[in-house]
This record gives sequence, C-alpha cells and structure tokens, in this order.
Amino acid sequence: MITVSDLRKVYRQGKREIVALDGVSLSVPQGSIHGIIGHSGAGKSTLVRCLTMLDRPTSGSVNISGTVLSAVKDSEVRAARRKTGMVFQHANLLDSRTSLGNVAHPLELTGAPKETICERSRELLRLVGLEGFENAYPAQLSGGQRQRVGIARALAANPDVLLCDEPTSALDPAATNEVLDLIRDLTDRLGLTVIVITHEMNVVKRICDSVSLLEKGRIVEDGALEDVAARLDSRLARALLPLPPAEVPMGAAGGDVIDLLMTGSSAQEPVLTGVARRFNVDLNVLAGSVETIGATQFGHLRVQLSQGADTSAILDYLASFGATAKAVAPNAPTGREEL
Ligand SMILES: Nc1ncnc2c1ncn2[C@@H]1O[C@H](COP(=O)(O)OP(=O)(O)OP(=O)(O)O)[C@@H](O)[C@H]1O
Ligand SMILES: [Mg+2]
Repeated sequence: MITVSDLRKVYRQGKREIVALDGVSLSVPQGSIHGIIGHSGAGKSTLVRCLTMLDRPTSGSVNISGTVLSAVKDSEVRAARRKTGMVFQHANLLDSRTSLGNVAHPLELTGAPKETICERSRELLRLVGLEGFENAYPAQLSGGQRQRVGIARALAANPDVLLCDEPTSALDPAATNEVLDLIRDLTDRLGLTVIVITHEMNVVKRICDSVSLLEKGRIVEDGALEDVAARLDSRLARALLPLPPAEVPMGAAGGDVIDLLMTGSSAQEPVLTGVARRFNVDLNVLAGSVETIGATQFGHLRVQLSQGADTSAILDYLASFGATAKAVAPNAPTGREEL
C-alpha cells in the first residue's frame, strides 16, 4: 500500500522558486498498479525521488507499507527504502558483471552468505524468465532482457513496492509489451504495489488499474481506469479511447453530429438501431472504436444524424441506456489529440 498526502516539492534556484510538486495526493492499494502520466516537466521524476526520499519533499507525507517514510530520519532512510524496488528507463546495469552478478549486487551489500546470494539471484532470474542467461553480460542481451535483469535486481530485497520510472520508453513495441506483461504478472503473483511513471497511454491501458494525470505538479484527473474511461469529456478518456480521424461526408447537408460513449451493457445493446427506429432518422457512423479496458467493453462513436432529427430527444434516449452522448461541432477534433 502506498499513500501520499499533499506532497509538495519546491526547488530554489537563487531567488527563483520552482514548484515541482504542488499538493499531490494518491493512494495505491496492495496488488494494484497505478499509472502516473504527464508531459515532460510535469514533475514525474520528482515524485519518484520524493517517494523514495532520494529527494526530501518540502512538505506532505509518504507512507509505504505502513512506514511513514517522510518522517524517517536521514540515517535510517536507507534501511526503510529496502521496501521499495526501483526500475528505471535504462536498466543501468553494471557492464562488467553478468546478469547473475548484477542481480546479486544489492544482495552482496547486505552481507548475506555467498551461496544464499547465488541461489536467490538464480531464482530471481528464473522469475523474470531469464533462466539460462545467468552468465550473459549486458552487452549480450537485448534491451528487453536488460530491463528484465533490472526488474530482477529491483526485487532482490523482497520489496513490497515497485516504482517504475518510464520502464519501457527505451524499448521497441514488442519488448515494451513483454516487459509490461512481466510487471503485471509479478504484481499479481507477489502481491506488489506498483507505481508506473509514463508519458505513453498504451502503458496505462495495458497494465494499470488506476491512473493520475499529472500537470505542472498537480494531479488534474484521476481514478480507476474504467471510471476514467467512462467520462466522455475527460482528457484521460479521450486519450484512452481515441476515435480515428473523422470525415463528415454530408458536410452541411447532414444533420447534427454526436459523440457517443457506450460501456458494458450499453455497448452490447443495439442502441443505434433503436434510435433509428424510434426517431425515424438515418445514422451515419463517421468514426468508431471498440476497446476493452479492465473487464469492461467501451464503444466510442461519432455519428451524424439526418437533417431535422430531434437531437436533444435522441441524447435523452441514449442516456436512458447508460450511454454518454453529446452534440459536437461536425469538425470537432477526434480523440487523437495529445493529453
Ligand atoms: N534539482 C532540481 N532543481 C531545480 N529544478 C528542478 C530539479 N529537478 C526538477 N526540477 C524542475 O521541476 C520540474 C519537474 O521536473 P521533473 O524532472 O520531475 O519532470 P518530469 O515529469 O520527470 O519530466 P520528463 O518527462 O522530462 O522526465 C521541472 O520544471 C524541472 O525543471
Ligand atoms: Mg522524468
């Protein structure tokens, strides 16, 4: 479990103050993965540093598995930090050591017997799917494999929490998916609590249970993934369920254009057929996407009604099916815009 309350970090550069974190609060239950998405400079790395006390927050508290880390004395922070494993964008492995040697490294610092360390390191490499690569050097591994070694090393001290700062930004799409699936699998098997920092929505979509959008040091939107996706007007929903670019073939000759988000049961219902029959209108689907997020199916559509349609009655009818719908300008941007 990770609980962060009202975290602030202010850097001072001469007379200038830079507010990198401006009252960040979040709570991540054990066994779940929370994504933090934001542009460059939003404060993502500052947040990770403050979560591990590599950088002391200016105010606010950080509680990791019951330890209020922000209240721990500098001299004891190192020991308290063992509960937290870190995964970075680049695996930051020691080039002169084998996979086994890299995983063993943090264990050697604990002074455990050599045999125990070797056995534990082998077990960790097995856990991340790298059995047989014990003696390979970083230069002999692919980017995805190096990141797996980094993850094994992060788990060496048996942490409760894993903090991943852009863990797949340096990987190609196939390796990205493998590493993400590994993080999800380890979270489920070991009951970890995980924060993943990213600027890519596909990372959030693939493995996160919940997400926060960080902007200028503040969380501007957040929630469980399925709840966030259901808010048609939210930036996270638009980024999660982007519509392909839409053309309006009928142009001004057609009627109103509506955007429609259907979830769960309403995504299954033949809602559009119902609208056509009941209101005696034609519906022209301009763009659409159907995706499953968490366990819920989402359908996101842009449709143009035939001219003279009673748009507000149709919007009410759609709402009665649990769909979120709104009229938009015919050339309104589809959801492809950046967060
Ligand atoms: N040590 C520091 N001293 C002064 N300002 C800093 C320091 N570290 C970060 N900042 C500032 O704090 C803000 C947030 O930086 P941070 O590195 O956390 O952003 P980020 O979201 O991780 O960006 P990126 O996606 O580029 O990694 C930026 O304005 C940055 O310039
Ligand atoms: Mg950063």
